[in-house]
Amino acid sequence: MRLKDRVVIVTGGAQGIGRAYGLGVAREGARVVIADILDTTPVVKEIEALGAQALGVECDVSREADTQRLATEALARFGRIDVLGNNAAVYSVLTRRPLMELTVDEWDRVMAVNLRGLFLCARAVFPAMKAQGKGKIINIASSTFFKGVPNFLHYATSKGGVVGFTRSLARELGDCGIRVNAIAPGFTESGENVKNIPAERVRATVEARMLKRVEVPDDLVGTFVFLASDDSDFMTGQTLLVDGGGNVH
Ligand SMILES: NC(=O)c1ccc[n+]([C@@H]2O[C@H](COP(=O)([O-])OP(=O)(O)OC[C@H]3O[C@@H](n4cnc5c(N)ncnc54)[C@H](O)[C@@H]3O)[C@@H](O)[C@H]2O)c1
Repeated sequence: MRLKDRVVIVTGGAQGIGRAYGLGVAREGARVVIADILDTTPVVKEIEALGAQALGVECDVSREADTQRLATEALARFGRIDVLGNNAAVYSVLTRRPLMELTVDEWDRVMAVNLRGLFLCARAVFPAMKAQGKGKIINIASSTFFKGVPNFLHYATSKGGVVGFTRSLARELGDCGIRVNAIAPGFTESGENVKNIPAERVRATVEARMLKRVEVPDDLVGTFVFLASDDSDFMTGQTLLVDGGGNVH
């Protein structure tokens, strides 16, 4: 119970890896807030079935008013915010397109959710974390930033931004006791994304790893719990690659 009674927000937690983070922190005793544009009822019920408390909030992280309401509702229900998991992203819905076929609208939408969303959510939780004198912000980057991926410019670039955001925000908030770290997952079979990835690309990714197997959402939960817990209290500004050794940095 490393997160007993901690209040953990997971954005984009209705499905995929975010759902696994929500369930994982609940198993460690946390009270969980799931924020998503999708219906959060099923995951809230799953968390409650574990005997934990959960709140679902309909929230588009690219909209400032939604992120402010997210923080307000979390505080109204649970009275504090200990951890923000900035996991929501435009990802599994994306089609890979070369430079000249990528539309400006798609580029802008990816940046609005994957980067502005982090910024807005961090601003929304900051007053509560500052008042508490402690907080943990966990941003979700991607191994695509380290590897460089063709036909996925907007996404890989946004995830590079997550690493830069993590480093700079960590420097800015250290004196408030707020730790800011990132996780960079490798290609993970998270549900929706499997429909968009050809089997030969999955095989090639697995072959390029030091640990040659498919990555699943539960492979990331231990790192998320570690960064959320007191065990990582002297770490900030860092990005942990969790990809079976597909990349190093
Ligand atoms: N699956 C992978 O291979 C992989 C690899 C590296 C990084 N990641 C990152 O991990 C995170 C989770 O990935 P996943 O595979 O579960 O993706 P996913 O697409 O299945 O889930 C993303 C979640 O974010 C939500 N979301 C999208 N836009 C939102 C918005 N504007 N506001 C609130 N919620 C929004 C979606 O509804 C969904 O629940 C993402 O940040 C992704 O970029 C995934």
